[in-house]
Amino acid sequence: MPTTSARSQPVYSALVVALFLIGVGCSDADVAPTGCTAEGADCTLGEVGTEGGLFLGSTSEGAGWTTAPEGELLRTHFNSVTSQNELKWGALVRDRGEYRFTQADETVEFAEANGMRMRGHVLFWHRLNGPPRWLADELAAADDPEAHLRELMREHVETVVGRYRGRIHTWDVVNEPLALLSDQIDHESIFFQAFADYDDFLDHAFRLARAADPDAKLFLNEILPAFSETTFDGLYRLVQRLVERGTPIDGVGFQGHFVLGRPDRETLRQRLQAFADLGLLTEITELDVTINLFPDAADPFAEQAEVYADVYAACAAVDLCIGVTTWNPHDATTWLDVDAIFGGQAPHFPTLFDESLEPKPAYHAAVDAVIASPRLSR
Ligand code: G3I
Repeated sequence: MPTTSARSQPVYSALVVALFLIGVGCSDADVAPTGCTAEGADCTLGEVGTEGGLFLGSTSEGAGWTTAPEGELLRTHFNSVTSQNELKWGALVRDRGEYRFTQADETVEFAEANGMRMRGHVLFWHRLNGPPRWLADELAAADDPEAHLRELMREHVETVVGRYRGRIHTWDVVNEPLALLSDQIDHESIFFQAFADYDDFLDHAFRLARAADPDAKLFLNEILPAFSETTFDGLYRLVQRLVERGTPIDGVGFQGHFVLGRPDRETLRQRLQAFADLGLLTEITELDVTINLFPDAADPFAEQAEVYADVYAACAAVDLCIGVTTWNPHDATTWLDVDAIFGGQAPHFPTLFDESLEPKPAYHAAVDAVIASPRLSR
């Protein structure tokens, strides 16, 4: 069983050293040993992540989450935290010009206080409550919507990335550029509609973010590349174009919501490696695995654990894959159970911790997968 004791020292600086060493081609990362190197070791995901140079995290929850049981769960078991909703443009700026930073500040301060990597999700996302409600009206009224959006983007990135400069290590700059299960840009995107050339939108977004925090790692995040070959192909071509034109992109996020099928470990490894071969970092950014994938299984939680092991092992097998984040820390608050599409099939029990916040077989499988990976054995 994993320990429930909090780590005795912040892991973040050691992990940054480790990732720096990986980045310059040295695999003998100079990280303080934690003893998490043997199968069955009594270690948390955060500890094996630190040992292996991986950010292994989960998400924030609603206001006040850091002092709720979720805060204790994250600080005990993970070394990274991703903002689930509070840094979305629509959540930050409900009224034009009025930023509400209270909840985002809470999450960023929590990460700092606990020596955890902070992953900022997300600057530009066109779906659901990603964009603010006022944005469509404002662009519709503009003489030159592209020029106006460029300016609004500049204001937004300077305000948000600038506020957290040096404190948010990794940013999802743009989320879900592709239409679902397609290799084409989503034409429903307000950003696609405003820009004459969507690649210019991406380039503008990444350049703004680079200027606002030159040291932050800048990611493009997509929903189904681990599952769909079509999505992977479209994403690969898009990212290749960005790299060729010199857009300052550092990495590609594979969300990993496994609701349509289970991943194949080797295919996932190869897809992550394909982006590494372009010189880019990768991460699994939004992992969850519904037990509805295994309707006939005698033990669906054992099947689920196998899938989790596959995902952590695939990432750990790629040097430039820097982390895995589960979407929602435990089953009681999973977005899947309340989603407009998937909520009808609730309960999904898709995370690493059950509704009582106890670790599930998937948690132990994930720890063991990292321990068994080349990260800890070389
Ligand atoms: O904050 C308001 C609250 O003021 C209001 O009273 C309440 C009433 O419904 O809504 C609250 O906002 C909700 C928000 O979550 C915070 O709880 C939104 O309605 C709800 O739509 C929103 O859902 C989030 C969804 O993205 C849309 O933004 C989910 O929690 C979040 O898990 C989900 O995450 C996305 C990733 O960002 C991108 N990839 C897919 C993933 C799953 O959809």
